[in-house]
Amino acid sequence: MKVSVSPGHNINGTLILPLFEGSEAVPESLQGGLHTALKGQINRILSEGDFKAKIKTTMSIIGSEGGKAMLVGLGKEDDADIHAYRKAGAAVIANRKKAHGTDLTVRFSEASVEAMGAFAEGMLLRDYSYDHYKQQEEDDKEAELDVRITCDEGQEDALASLTKIHAGVASGVHLSRDLGNCPPNDMYPEAFADQAWEWAKDYDNVEVTIINYDQAVKAGMGGLVAVGMGSARKPCMVIFEMNREKTGRCPMLVGKGITFDTGGISLKPGANMDEMKYDMGGSATVFGTMQALASTGHKGKVVAITCMAENMPSSNAQRPGDVITTLSGKTIEILNTDAEGRLVLSDGLWKAGEFDPEYIIDFATLTGACVVALGHEATGLWSNDDDFRTRIHEAGNAVDELAWPMPLLPAFEKEMTNSKIADTRNLGAGRYGGANTAAAFLKQFVPNRNYEKDGEQITWAHMEIAGTYWGAKTNSMVGNGATGIHVRTMYHLITNG
Ligand code: BES
Ligand code: ZN
Ligand code: ZN
Repeated sequence: MKVSVSPGHNINGTLILPLFEGSEAVPESLQGGLHTALKGQINRILSEGDFKAKIKTTMSIIGSEGGKAMLVGLGKEDDADIHAYRKAGAAVIANRKKAHGTDLTVRFSEASVEAMGAFAEGMLLRDYSYDHYKQQEEDDKEAELDVRITCDEGQEDALASLTKIHAGVASGVHLSRDLGNCPPNDMYPEAFADQAWEWAKDYDNVEVTIINYDQAVKAGMGGLVAVGMGSARKPCMVIFEMNREKTGRCPMLVGKGITFDTGGISLKPGANMDEMKYDMGGSATVFGTMQALASTGHKGKVVAITCMAENMPSSNAQRPGDVITTLSGKTIEILNTDAEGRLVLSDGLWKAGEFDPEYIIDFATLTGACVVALGHEATGLWSNDDDFRTRIHEAGNAVDELAWPMPLLPAFEKEMTNSKIADTRNLGAGRYGGANTAAAFLKQFVPNRNYEKDGEQITWAHMEIAGTYWGAKTNSMVGNGATGIHVRTMYHLITNG
């Protein structure tokens, strides 16, 4: 989608008219340049109450004497925050076929730059489809949209730069979605690493380092190795460093990257197993965030780690009963090979300490229990720092990506250390509180500052996206498949402090 911004009244192609509930006629300020007959038709529809302008609704109109328009509801004027504008923008694209053309001119009545920007953001975000694997004739492919947003004199520069940022961040969301949607025969650990490597060539300020299987074995990454060794496609760790020459502590992101989770020897049932291609959603979130930051010219230092492995049953796979030694030195008794995400993350979190980060946030599709708790509506959010947890919760609210506070309790941690033969175990004692025991397990692998034995633990948060990375039917920025959630939350958190 091409988006341009300019003041003025001329309309190219279809007029997109965002309206509040209760609008009885085309607002005075929008009438200039509007085809008289089309204006009459729209006014009739509005005065007779045929379009109520409820949030996210649209109505398309073909003028009897020429001209095309699409009305789009912003809901009640009193409730119209930037989220309403973003949703309305997305609704236009969701109904793009009814716009009857690819040239769109959006015209607002007295909207702020932020509101218009949010509308453009919604259009940009929703303009996504995953059809790389469909045979298509050139003619059947959706043509690129050319969107012009008209604004008042004096608003154009601020709106153009805001729209550019939204376009850059949307490219990060779309990268995350592409990675998540990619079939697991083509998205395996090395494929992800190769893509990261190629991607970094486009940015002078980004370095990608790949720790391959042999190096991971040598380094003692027992968690990553144990999970990945059952597959012919070997595991790896990918490290992204942005503006690495900058001094000082920086944000650090860590992602679970299981490119396919069969469960391993603790094999999953067959139903819906295809969905386990999304089990690398955490690493896709991390990569997408790096793209959002890089493409918008972020100047600060940011480091990210993705832990890539395919969890397969084979004669080389780990077994329930095995004891592994992680990078931290801590040993883990494997009681269920399907609780593998926490194993790869144990090495990723420990490795993160090497970069002396300001904070570490991990993203992971860790447990079905989290989906039971929060459905597809909110990400589970745990942290060892209450203020930090609140900051992330608020960053999520600011961009309409909910992350809900969950408890990190000593009792859960105790449950996970209750192994007779190892320091810790990868399974809780029973099936209750499964998302919380997983979070408590991870906490044990968050290093202290400079790895000092009695030092203070690095500020850390865990974001469980098992329910929100896909299947989110109420997320109006997404039609189907991978959602790309939290690229925007992270962009907001990292760039707004
Ligand atoms: N990748 C799954 C978690 C998952 C389940 C994500 C459903 C999305 C939807 C994870 O590796 C897993 O299998 N977890 C187990 C943990 C259990 C063995 C403690 C689970 O949730 O059953
Ligand atoms: Zn699993
Ligand atoms: Zn998994």
